[in-house]
Amino acid sequence: MSQPGRDGFGHDTTTDQVLEGIDLSGKLALVTGASGGLGAETARALASKGAAVVLTARDMARAEEVAKRIRESTGNDAVEVENLELDSLASIRAFAERFLARHDALQILVNNAGVMACPLARTQDGFELQFGTNHLGHFLMTGLLAPALLKGAPARIVSLSSRGHQQGSVDLDDPCFERRPYDKWESYGQAKTANVLFAVELERRLGERDVHAHAVHPGVIATDLARHLVPEDYERMRKRQPGGKLRLKTVEAGAATSVYAATAPELEGRGGLYLEDCHIAEIDDAEGAPGGVRSYAVDANAAKRLWSLSEELVGQSFPL
Ligand SMILES: NC(=O)c1ccc[n+]([C@@H]2O[C@H](COP(=O)([O-])OP(=O)(O)OC[C@H]3O[C@@H](n4cnc5c(N)ncnc54)[C@H](OP(=O)(O)O)[C@@H]3O)[C@@H](O)[C@H]2O)c1
Repeated sequence: MSQPGRDGFGHDTTTDQVLEGIDLSGKLALVTGASGGLGAETARALASKGAAVVLTARDMARAEEVAKRIRESTGNDAVEVENLELDSLASIRAFAERFLARHDALQILVNNAGVMACPLARTQDGFELQFGTNHLGHFLMTGLLAPALLKGAPARIVSLSSRGHQQGSVDLDDPCFERRPYDKWESYGQAKTANVLFAVELERRLGERDVHAHAVHPGVIATDLARHLVPEDYERMRKRQPGGKLRLKTVEAGAATSVYAATAPELEGRGGLYLEDCHIAEIDDAEGAPGGVRSYAVDANAAKRLWSLSEELVGQSFPL
């Protein structure tokens, strides 16, 4: 299902193990959705190796608490918090303007924020909430920050996808469920496939200029992401696992694949990859495959079409 990564790396590898011997001083990292869960741990781990880190959040008080703990535990004072609401194009544009006014170069971007399996809802601009937040919000933000990434090259962009992408591809004709019945899992799967396709197209456009993009499945980790789940959802998730059992990761192991994608020296010069358990996953279209990436999620033509559609929806072109 996957190619060998660094010796011994796998399901339970932690952020600190991934970063052993790695120095990130002089680099700037931006982590979205860092007020808790995987984002907070990703930010802590990167700061522990000397990176300056910007955490974005909606709940500023909670994120300030996280930042304070990171400064105290790592001794790194270069940890800032910024407000960013990915379900609002105006908030994203205002954030990007503030960010670019303060920083002209960015080396690590972790598009981590996400919402899962929520009831049908719409963003402030009318997009279906999961597609709008998980994909379109990050699409606009990444496009706006691209000049800083190019200036910061070599740079990496990590998009948090999920094994949930195996649920299905992106409906390019009706991504916002305007003409088809809403299904919360179909919607999550579509958004998480969009995260992989976005990495594929970013790589095609920026890879030659040493800005590389990857998508990751972090594993199954008990976080606030499960806030919308009901008992039947857990039953459904269990059934989809090998042996019918959910194999949970700690938060430190859950954030490890993001940190691996953002920093691993063995990935230098590579991009457009889908990683899981700190390994490069292979394409696997077998029904019930326990891992791997679906071929529709790395389809170069679909990736190009999604980029154009996303430009149309956010009302801005990024001729990168
Ligand atoms: N945990 C897992 O098992 C798992 C599995 C596969 C993939 N993932 C992916 O991993 C990523 C991180 O998830 P997690 O487990 O750490 O979940 P989490 O604890 O719920 O964190 C998600 C973060 O996204 C933020 N967010 C949600 N909607 C937002 C919006 N409209 N604007 C700005 N920020 C928003 C949340 O902020 P608020 O606190 O303000 O809502 C929170 O900080 C997600 O992309 C998720 O799809 C997780």
